[in-house]
Amino acid sequence: MQFDTVIHGGTIATADYTAKGDIGIKDGRIAALAETLSGGERRIDAGGRIVVPGGIEAHAHIAQESSSGVMSADDYLSGSISAAFGGNSSFIPFAAQQRGQSVDDVIATYDARAARSVIDYSYHLIISDPQPKVLEDELPRAFARGITSFKVFMTYDLMNLGDGGMLDILSVAREHGAITMVHAENNDMVKWMNRKLADKGLSAPKYHAISRPELAEEEAINRAIQLAKLVDAPLFIVHVSTEGGAEIVRREKFNGAKLFAETCPQYLALTRDDLDRPGMEGAKYICSPPLRDARTQDTLWHHIAMGTFESVSSDHAPYRFDDTGKFLNGRDAPYPKIANGMPGIAARLPYLFSEGVVKGRITIEQFVALSSTNAAKTFGCETKGRIAPGMDADIAIWNPETRRTVTVQDQHDNMDYTPFEGMEVTGMPEIVMNRGAVIIEDGELKAKEGQGRFVARQPADLRAKPGWTAKEFDPAQNFGAVLR
Ligand code: URP
Ligand code: ZN
Ligand code: ZN
Ligand code: ZN
Repeated sequence: MQFDTVIHGGTIATADYTAKGDIGIKDGRIAALAETLSGGERRIDAGGRIVVPGGIEAHAHIAQESSSGVMSADDYLSGSISAAFGGNSSFIPFAAQQRGQSVDDVIATYDARAARSVIDYSYHLIISDPQPKVLEDELPRAFARGITSFKVFMTYDLMNLGDGGMLDILSVAREHGAITMVHAENNDMVKWMNRKLADKGLSAPKYHAISRPELAEEEAINRAIQLAKLVDAPLFIVHVSTEGGAEIVRREKFNGAKLFAETCPQYLALTRDDLDRPGMEGAKYICSPPLRDARTQDTLWHHIAMGTFESVSSDHAPYRFDDTGKFLNGRDAPYPKIANGMPGIAARLPYLFSEGVVKGRITIEQFVALSSTNAAKTFGCETKGRIAPGMDADIAIWNPETRRTVTVQDQHDNMDYTPFEGMEVTGMPEIVMNRGAVIIEDGELKAKEGQGRFVARQPADLRAKPGWTAKEFDPAQNFGAVLR
């Protein structure tokens, strides 16, 4: 076969094995894997480098209004470019329904925004208003066009659904084979803490962490899991930030819940002490759930290594350190009026490679699983996340020895800071491909605006997680009719 491209002499790392070999690419797909392949219109010499599936960023807020109405600093052009520089070939940001909005309109809006992407994309659909027409018509329509994951919030007054609303979404998701993601923090606990802190006049950024206690996450994670178990629906817990939360996830998985989870680099690299930097500097580190402590960092790494988490995602939620972002409500706004979130889409994989693989906390195979393969499986990206014949040629070639210091400039996003500034990392993606096209090379963007394509996703493959059904809804016990 005449290949378009042959990647020659690299060490190919997948989620299952690592071996030296060549990859033949034809028409955007991986056409052959062999010890050596001749030919190729273009031959890329990968000698001494590691060839992995391109990252799949499964948690990013791009061209999205925050729950308080602040537009993210990155649109699909800058956000996808930043993702590509960070070793990603595709991403799944959110398409967010505001209350009262039809889901069809939401998807049309995000289709227009995403047309600028330089990498392949899909959306998780955030639902804030599960009215009957949403549940009965609009979600099934979204599902039919390949949007097979929904996201709900247990916190933020404008997003929080309540337990009944969550059960409605979970049962629709179950019926169609969609997976529901959840931001789990107990809204009333947070609001009560906010009131107590406000009564004492405590409004500096550092109080953000105190206002969102670890128990608020643990309680909500546990509740979300029990709700999902009641209706036998798969559940994905986003951004787990606590030891207690991770322990609940581990235990419930072991006991047969159809449960998936992620954590994020900020909970591994930063602590609540960063919120107490001088002046308003701490506002850069306001995200929810909040940063925790050094002990939690160790525990979360342990859970990553032991398989509690399917993925490490960025939760890229970029709000600039200026009046368009963090300070939209004024330079001295109290912490509850400062946009939640921090950027990290370009830093995620260099951080995970350096602190994970180079430092020996995880294997290169785990790196591949956590950065790409598991996201593809969990979210139904059938042709992505693996290096195998027939798969999309979404590939990143990493130099495991490059050392550099993280700076805001090399994030290539639309931000004026990175919370990872000054961090030393070893290992860097040198070439990134999306469907066979080189999109990053020699430190430069080679992709054109709009070159990314929408990925119609399949229902999540839950055969590996047969799970357990509450007896009230177990068809074998004749109660199954309740669920339709
Ligand atoms: O602080 C964060 N993570 N902001 C993004 C919105 C959310 O909470 O998911
Ligand atoms: Zn060769
Ligand atoms: Zn969240
Ligand atoms: Zn998020």
